[in-house]
Formats: sequence, C-alpha cells, structure tokens
Amino acid sequence: MTATSLAHPVLADLAGRLPALRLLTEPSDLEHYGRDWTRRWMPAPLAVALPASVEEVQAIVCWANEHRIYVVPSGGRTGLSGGAVAANGELVLSLERMNRVLGFDAVDRTLTVQAGISLQAVHDAARAHGLIYPVDFAARGSCSIGGNIATNAGGIRVIRYGNTREWIAGLTVVAGNGERLDLNRGLIKNSSGYDLRQLMIGSEGTLGVVVEATLKLTEPPPASQVMLLALPDMAALMQVFALFRVKLNLQAFEFFTDVALKHVLAHGAQRAIDGEHSYYVVTEFDADEDAALAVFEHGAEQGWISDGVIAQSEAQAAALWRLREGITESLAPHRPYKNDISLRISALPVFLQEIQALLGREYPQAEVVWFGHIGDGNLHINVLKPEGLSDADFIAQCEHVTKLLADTLQRHGGSISAEHGIGLVKKAYLGSTRSEAEIALMRGVKQVFDPKGLLNPGKVF
Ligand code: MLT
Ligand code: ZN
Repeated sequence: MTATSLAHPVLADLAGRLPALRLLTEPSDLEHYGRDWTRRWMPAPLAVALPASVEEVQAIVCWANEHRIYVVPSGGRTGLSGGAVAANGELVLSLERMNRVLGFDAVDRTLTVQAGISLQAVHDAARAHGLIYPVDFAARGSCSIGGNIATNAGGIRVIRYGNTREWIAGLTVVAGNGERLDLNRGLIKNSSGYDLRQLMIGSEGTLGVVVEATLKLTEPPPASQVMLLALPDMAALMQVFALFRVKLNLQAFEFFTDVALKHVLAHGAQRAIDGEHSYYVVTEFDADEDAALAVFEHGAEQGWISDGVIAQSEAQAAALWRLREGITESLAPHRPYKNDISLRISALPVFLQEIQALLGREYPQAEVVWFGHIGDGNLHINVLKPEGLSDADFIAQCEHVTKLLADTLQRHGGSISAEHGIGLVKKAYLGSTRSEAEIALMRGVKQVFDPKGLLNPGKVF
C-alpha cells in the first residue's frame, strides 16, 4: 500500500480548514482503519480523519461534498459484513476520539455519550449509577456505540431486552449534506411525524454519521442463574426453549453445536459437560436454583435434556458463557464465511434440516459451524475455509451456497441479516429479504439524506 501525502491538494484543503484535525496517511494507518473483522477486502482509503467534535465532523462532510470525496464512517470496526471497509480511496471518518460520556440524567434514566465510546465503557458508566445498558455481546470491549447503532446490533440479551433500537432515546447525526440533526432529543413519547431516529438506526452509515446518542438505562435484573444444557436434537431443543421461556424469566438462550464446542475447547475454554451431545444451550434467567432445577428435571424426564450444569459461582458462570462467547474468536483462524440469518423461531427446525441437506449436497468438503441466538430465531452459520483452497475459490463456493440459502430463507419468510447488517458481504442477497418496491424506497431515502451519495458508498445496495 502506498502512502497518501498530506500535500495532496484535497487533503491540504481539509487540513487548512481544520488545522487541529488529526489526519493519518501512513500505510499502516490506512490498513488499520480501512478494514473490519471480515478481512476480505484490501484496505485502500485516501486518508483517515479523527475528528474531536461534531463541528469537525460537519466540516469534514461539507468538505467531502465540495470535493466529491466518499466517506466511510468508522467505529470499532468489529463488523462482520464489510460495513466499515474503505477499499477505494475513501476518507475514513473514525469516531475513535469522540469517546466520552457527556451526561447522566437520574430522573430520565439516560446516559448521553459520544459515538466512539465502547460498549464496555457504556456498561461501566451505567453500572456506576446502579443501572444497566442491557444490549450486550462478546465484542463489547472493542465495538463502539455508534457502530452498534449503525447496525442495530442485537447480541445475547435480545430475548429479554430487544435490539439496540429499543434503547436509543435520542440521536445526533451529521447527514450527507453536513447538516446536524438532533433526533427525538430523549423524549419517551413523540408522535410528531416520521421517526427519523429509527430510520438512522440500522442504516449502516449510509444516511448519516452518528455522532452522539442518548441511551435509555434500566435497573439491573435480580441475581441470575447460568446453566449449560446438552440436548439430543433440534426438536428437543425447541421443547426446552418453550418450557424454559414459560417457567423461567429468560435473559438469554444461546445455542451452539458439538462442532462449535470442539473449536472453542481447542481455543482454551473449559469443558463443562462430559460425553458426546449434538447441541448445547447456555441460558441465563432470574429464578432461584430450586425452581431452575425443577424445570431442568422436568425437561430431563421428557428426554429433551441429556445433561446439564448450573453455575455455582460468578467464575463458573463466566466459564459457561465463555463456551458460547469464545466461538467467534476460536473460528477466526479458519477464515469463516459468515451467515447471520433470521427466521421465526417456529420455522427453525424445518429450515435447519433443509440447510443441512443443502450444505451436504453443495459443499460436502466444508466444515460448517452453527451457533447463535436461537431464542431470537437468529443463527450464525459459519462455513470454514478448507485447507489448500484459494481465498477466491472459497468465496465463490460460499457465494453459490449463500444464494441457495437466501432462496430457502425467502421461502420461509426470513432475513439474510439478523444483526450483522448487509454491508458489502450480503448486498447481492438483499432482494431475498426486501421486495423491489422496498429497495426502491430505500434508495429514495438515501437520496434524501445523502444527495451526492457520498456516505459509505457501495454498502447495503
Ligand atoms: C456472535 O453472536 O457471537 C456474534 O454475532 C459474532 C459472530 O457471529 O461471529
Ligand atoms: Zn450474534
């Protein structure tokens, strides 16, 4: 990768307008900020800007309009669908330096933050006030709240608390023409026309740059129990889900297969259940241990649960959670092709059978790892790269399979992305989830907020 010079006339103009702006052009910086966790595209941005204020973000977007420079908004770059990739001479607009808590309001129970703050720092700030921000997932230490908002991130507690969009009381964005929009301003009720805040959430940086957010907080749940269950088959898993959902107040119900377990154990997690089992669930709920054991025993008597363990300490609970949360990291060396599908929960068993048959037929040599948020109807189907296969052949084969997967999803009324977003990875399949009329309207919305089409070009459609 070649360095861009700050003497480049367009960059010199930006530096002249904003003398305090941090602008990076070293090849190592371009590479670092130009990619996300997909690692599929070769990063090649023009430069990286690290603004420190909303005014600087506005000035950068205005400058981009004048010079017709594409802008890729960038948070923690932990995304898995290429939504933060800059591979074509774009300016990366990193919110990394805008990472402060701006205020806490005890009456409103809200926390106002800059977009570059990490999810973990949001959790810590909420806890410091005896409250929680309940959206949570394994990338919490690296991802940013702005990225979470841009993808409407879900994670491991959606079954109790919903997605990111439920927790955004107010949003400040810089639209594609550089205008600052303060959306909803922390109101609980606001029936005054279109909710532009919700339109921005999940728009993957294509409509505006999220710069600040007012987050709703809530009280922590009562002391909870964490359980690991081993299950013989998908039909049993569905029965257990229905049972646990009725009898225990679920916070999480997360699933993985024996193949996922093999990888996470090889990556240092501790085995908690002996023997061979097809499926596993990590579940967390607020109920006392006796109630939990009574429900567990009922499931075991029915033949739905083969084995299980309930955590007796915080350390054991963390070890059980690691079996689920460590999966992504354990698969990373195998360069997985990721699918992030969403279906009605009741449609999952039939869909799984169809997809297992499809993968066996179309890609028998690939190792496929299933895990995810089964309590939300959201599965991550990861296809691992077989040894010796070139990257290009692997991607071509995965795309062929994903087309068939998308067709199957369409038949079942599902979505090609549950929580990772469309980005670059899934845009060829958008039509399996959204009708032509919907996509035309989405393009129209993009035109309204970003008339020159400069924000996150090529993402979503
Ligand atoms: C997860 O649920 O662990 C994340 O969505 C990450 C992944 O799919 O790898
Ligand atoms: Zn997930």
